[in-house]
Amino acid sequence: MNATIENLLNNQIKYEAQASLQYLAMASWADAEGYNGVADFFYSQSEEERLHMTKLVKFVNERGGKVIVSALDKPKDSYQGLNELFEQFLESEMFVTEQINHVIYECLEHKDYNVHNFMQWYVTEQLEEEAMARTLLDKLNIIGSDKSGHYLFDRDINAIAAAQEKE
Ligand code: FEO
Repeated sequence: MNATIENLLNNQIKYEAQASLQYLAMASWADAEGYNGVADFFYSQSEEERLHMTKLVKFVNERGGKVIVSALDKPKDSYQGLNELFEQFLESEMFVTEQINHVIYECLEHKDYNVHNFMQWYVTEQLEEEAMARTLLDKLNIIGSDKSGHYLFDRDINAIAAAQEKE
């Protein structure tokens, strides 16, 4: 495997792991604040990111590359409210999308069509996750600081997420 691509995939393993840890901290914050629906949503997002990470680890190993499992940064674990939480969610997804686009660009530069093909799954996944984060943040922006609105958002978030996934 080309050393630049191997390095980029190892970075991507770290970003997916960092997102998983970040969403776990978000889930725990929401759990402690009594937002059970939001907590379930982020526990499940955290699991998904873990799968994204593992899929990359297995792929690099299958291709005979050397996987590096890196140390992670401590995730942010306190938020002013749901709006800040979901702003951070969208920011995190946008960062991951940017990194994936960078991997794709380098694959084409190095004519590594195998990795390029593998990464298409991540491109699709990112489109969905970014759309989801935007939809949820849009809803929260409409709700503003209304407490009963937040109550309904927490109650309905998993239904909203499931409906969005079907689109
Ligand atoms: Fe796997 Fe949402 O980044």
